Order: sequence, then C-alpha cells, then structure tokens
Amino acid sequence: MATVLITGANRGIGLEIASQYEARGDEVVAVCRRSCEALDTMGVEVIDGVDVTSDESVADMASALSGRRIDRLVNNAGILERDGLDDLDFGVIERQFRVNALGPLRVTAALRPLLTDGAKVFIVTSRMGSIEDNSSGGYYGYRMSKAAVNIAAKSLSVDLKDAGVGVFLLHPGYVATDMTGGQGIPAEQAAAGLIERMDTLQLEQTGTFWHQEGYALPW
Ligand SMILES: NC(=O)c1ccc[n+]([C@@H]2O[C@H](COP(=O)([O-])OP(=O)(O)OC[C@H]3O[C@@H](n4cnc5c(N)ncnc54)[C@H](OP(=O)(O)O)[C@@H]3O)[C@@H](O)[C@H]2O)c1
Repeated sequence: MATVLITGANRGIGLEIASQYEARGDEVVAVCRRSCEALDTMGVEVIDGVDVTSDESVADMASALSGRRIDRLVNNAGILERDGLDDLDFGVIERQFRVNALGPLRVTAALRPLLTDGAKVFIVTSRMGSIEDNSSGGYYGYRMSKAAVNIAAKSLSVDLKDAGVGVFLLHPGYVATDMTGGQGIPAEQAAAGLIERMDTLQLEQTGTFWHQEGYALPW
C-alpha cells in the first residue's frame, strides 16, 4: 500500500486519480482548495484550503503532514486560459505561471522532507508545453507555463536523484473535464493510464516526459 498525495483532487483528473487509488487500497491524501461531496464520501483523507499559489497554505499542508512519508506525489492542479496573439493578457499569462509552473515546484519543495528513498514525484503537465510538438501556436500562457514546469521537473529530477526520488512528467491526453468543456476521453481512462505510468516508471528513468498511453514525448 502506497501513500499518494494528489493536488487538485476535488474534480476532473485529480478526483479520478484519487478514486482509483482509493479503490485499489492505497492511502490517499486528497489536497484541494475546496472539497466536494464526491471526495468527502470517498473515504480518503482530505486536506482542503490549499491553494498551490500560496506559500502559507502549502506550508500549512506540509506541517499537517509532518513525520509522514509520501510514496507518490501527484502535482495535478492546473489551469488553462485560452489566448492568442491578438488578445494577450499578461496578467492571465502570469496567473497560469503561478499555478502551473510555480505551484508544483512550491508543493514539491515543501513536501521534500516527506519524500524519501523510493518516492516518486509526478507532474501532470501537457504536451502543449512541448516545444517540438507545437505546430499550432497560440495558447501563450498555458504553453509557456507548462514548458516552464517541464524544465523545473528536469532540475528536480537531477537534484532529488541522490535521495532516491524519481521525478516524472505525465501528459493525460485530451480529457473530458471542466478544462476542456467536457470534450475528450473519459477522465477514468486518463487516470487509469496515468496510474499505470506511475506504477511502471522507475528511478533510472527520472527526468522523462510521458504520454499516459505509454510513449515518451519530445521536449
Ligand atoms: N483536461 C485535459 O485535456 C488536460 C490535458 C493536458 C493536461 N491537463 C492537465 O491536467 C491537470 C488537471 O486538469 P483537469 O482537466 O482535471 O482540469 P479541471 O477539471 O479544470 O481541474 C483543475 C483542478 O486544479 C485545481 N486548481 C486550479 N487552480 C488551483 C490552485 N491555485 N490551487 C489549488 N488547486 C487549483 C482545481 O481546483 P478548484 O476546483 O479549486 O478550481 C481543480 O481541482 C492540469 O494540470 C491540466 O493542465 C489536462
């Protein structure tokens, strides 16, 4: 049984990851800003009031967990704001940086004492943060923030390797959640693929970027 901490666990992909880990008997710590009925009735430990952009709330979460071991940290919380060259809003771009790029780094750094030999850190990024994969342009804030978290994950993978902690980037596919207006594959399918990657990826592969379907993605 592993202890799995998931951010953004109150809806979408995060909620489904929490549900599938709970169903197979792992210990789930579901972290969110505000809980929901589905989470409250799931029988998992819920830590609410955690905004990944807030030093204070992330530090409070870390102190509430002090002395515990996290086997898998799933940095899932994220936002998408659509933009294009004709309607750039730099405040909105910065907001995506704060959540998508700085959030996972803040959470991982705060939980570092709980991540010991054999632990794995996952960041749910997007192939939209892949430079090589970008053939359609636009989405400045989202793409830039996900590219930024990708390089943060690479540095984390180097910095945590000696401690025996692996760091991996995962793309969930195009998934039917609030983020996509309900378009895409079911969240159940995305979560199952993500968990399969989380089960399979090992320390020797730290610092790599994967589609949940099981193939490596280009940077
Ligand atoms: N859906 C897709 O097709 C797709 C594709 C590629 C990558 N992704 C990535 O997958 C992850 C999950 O996306 P999703 O589709 O499940 O989106 P979603 O349904 O919109 O859920 C987003 C989750 O992130 C949380 N969140 C947002 N801002 C936060 C903050 N400042 N602090 C704490 N939590 C925050 C939300 O909490 P609240 O309820 O409090 O807002 C919610 O739990 C994201 O990182 C997204 O970029 C999704």
